[in-house]
Amino acid sequence: MSNGSTRRTSISDLAAKKIRHEKWAMITAYEELTASIFEEAGIPVLLVGDSAGNNFLGEVNTIPVTLEQMIMLSRAVVLGTSKAMVVADLPFGSYEKSPKQALESATRLFKEAKVQAVKLEGGKKVVPQIKKLVSSGVPVMGHLGLTPQSVYALGGFKVQGRGESAKAIIKDAKALQSAGIFALVLEMVPAELATEISEALDIPVIGIGAGNGCDAQVIVWTDLMGLTEKAPKFAKAYRDLRTEISNGVSEWASDVEAGLFPSEEQTFH
Ligand code: KIV
Repeated sequence: MSNGSTRRTSISDLAAKKIRHEKWAMITAYEELTASIFEEAGIPVLLVGDSAGNNFLGEVNTIPVTLEQMIMLSRAVVLGTSKAMVVADLPFGSYEKSPKQALESATRLFKEAKVQAVKLEGGKKVVPQIKKLVSSGVPVMGHLGLTPQSVYALGGFKVQGRGESAKAIIKDAKALQSAGIFALVLEMVPAELATEISEALDIPVIGIGAGNGCDAQVIVWTDLMGLTEKAPKFAKAYRDLRTEISNGVSEWASDVEAGLFPSEEQTFH
């Protein structure tokens, strides 16, 4: 499947999908090779998530990821693609201090990595940052519910917005939309709450562990392809690449040990 376009997906394309009730998929990408495969598969939006921390860089979570690392990974994803919109996470510590700090970090991602949008986590407290970015021409994606950069403050990876706390998430979602975000990620919230927010907002709502009532879905690609050793409950592995890769590598090493690789076909004379 291809998105059939000669330009990158724009925020207007996503707004139009919301009006047409057309669902779409966003997937994480951390480097050029897989980014190009995801684009060839027709994925309209690639997220260079700070989930690279625990899915690519060997960290325990997203918190240690730096702006420099995000720039390097994002540049590779942009270089590997020409049709997908590339959204980069503003990592922990790169935007919380002030709107000025947020704009400086986003400017680096725009100029050095050449991404087309940024994502940041949080509700009302990041509204000034969002307003500054949007008024400077930076499309911003919001992120509510389980916000992994606050995992220690939240006491772990737990479902957010059950019971009374749902009201605060609805209020935050509306505040972010008013501040100018073009799309909102909702992570690990009850399906009923995610559906209510998706119906209440004019912008696309992208769910992850948020049920089937959202306008779009996002997934971490290593979970989707069965590379992650312990994937979260909300992720479904569509392939078992961990076993595939392990078997392939073992086969090659056995051939090397048995003197069967390289064969004549891989040999120069
Ligand atoms: O960092 C990330 O990959 C994300 C998604 C899980 C939404 O924020």
